[in-house]
Amino acid sequence: MFEPPTKNTDPDAPTRATDNDAAIARLSAVRKGYLADPYIAALIPRAHLQQPRPPLINIGTYLRTRAIDLLLDDWFRLAGPRKVQIVSLGAGSDTRFWRLANGPHAAKLQRYIEIDFAENTSRKVMSIRKNRVLSAALGAEGDISVGGGGTTLRTPVYNLLPMDLRTPPAASLAPLMRAGQGDEPMLSPTLPTLLLFECVLAYMDPAASNALIQWFVDYFAAVPGGLLGGVVYEMFKLNDPFGRVMLNNLKSRSLSLPGAEPYPDLASLSRRFLDLGFTTAQAVTLREIRLRYIDSRELQRLSQLEMLDEVEELELVLDHYAISWGVRFPEGWAREGGAGSAWGLVAKKQLEDDEDVDDDYGLQP
Ligand SMILES: C[S@@+](CC[C@H](N)C(=O)[O-])C[C@H]1O[C@@H](n2cnc3c(N)ncnc32)[C@H](O)[C@@H]1O
Repeated sequence: MFEPPTKNTDPDAPTRATDNDAAIARLSAVRKGYLADPYIAALIPRAHLQQPRPPLINIGTYLRTRAIDLLLDDWFRLAGPRKVQIVSLGAGSDTRFWRLANGPHAAKLQRYIEIDFAENTSRKVMSIRKNRVLSAALGAEGDISVGGGGTTLRTPVYNLLPMDLRTPPAASLAPLMRAGQGDEPMLSPTLPTLLLFECVLAYMDPAASNALIQWFVDYFAAVPGGLLGGVVYEMFKLNDPFGRVMLNNLKSRSLSLPGAEPYPDLASLSRRFLDLGFTTAQAVTLREIRLRYIDSRELQRLSQLEMLDEVEELELVLDHYAISWGVRFPEGWAREGGAGSAWGLVAKKQLEDDEDVDDDYGLQP
């Protein structure tokens, strides 16, 4: 599953290399038919030579992608007629922007900002510029600018920016988010905005990630009507025997997970959001997502893709990964207003009753 330990003396190199694992896992899930993603291969060097991943990895990749897609769909619904901004922190080779730009919510996407280490953004900038399909989604050629020695790519909607997320936000994030085109900031505090932390916070010191999230909360709290949501996907519960094995495996790759330590259970994952000023929060394991949030037709389809011998092993692994989400409603938001004002995943029973479930993107037909 993992690459051999690296001799690189840069202590962040192993963390940056986790992007490769995530991208290859996605490619594998796509090739096996779990997910539809025509963009990922263009972001992986020599994609045709990559070997498939075991079923367990493919299922995990499918579940987290599907759950986050559903949360995104619901964010667009919550925003109503307003346009939406998405900020993906530690975005790596993620392709969600291209799936959105070619999906049913494209017209409602005001801004999509991706941030990662400069080494990773420069590789992504190069791959995007080399690929006609990825570049075409960015809009007119005249609106695309590459800067910062090839580490930055800016367009009116999509922006790929280099930054070490651990640096104090006042010195790094604030100037980046305020520097837009003309008088308009890159990140408007008045538009409904969703933060995505997909498998990144676990690699960061918790004090640094809390400061990062707090900066966004304060930015949106400073204006009337600011609506902010956050989604976190990561490993947790690493204090049990399975968790300790996982940590040891990672150690052999010079990787540690300081950001997972304070989160021994689901309650602690939702509490992070509440402690940082979000109004409501929830957390579910990937195991629960498989059991309660994926409709039965879809589970049936997945079960036919590959043989899975060890359901117990699958459940053990899925039990150590969670998706948590929180929303900070502005003052006066109609929280008691019923279904329209809530945001989050909807459990299976309701999904199957709802004929309007949006199954348009992220999955094979
Ligand atoms: C496991 S990958 C996940 C990539 C992508 N979010 C996904 O789910 O496919 C973790 C990513 O977070 C980035 N990352 C981790 N710590 C970071 C930091 N301090 N600053 C910027 N990026 C960071 C890594 O470089 C890597 O691209």
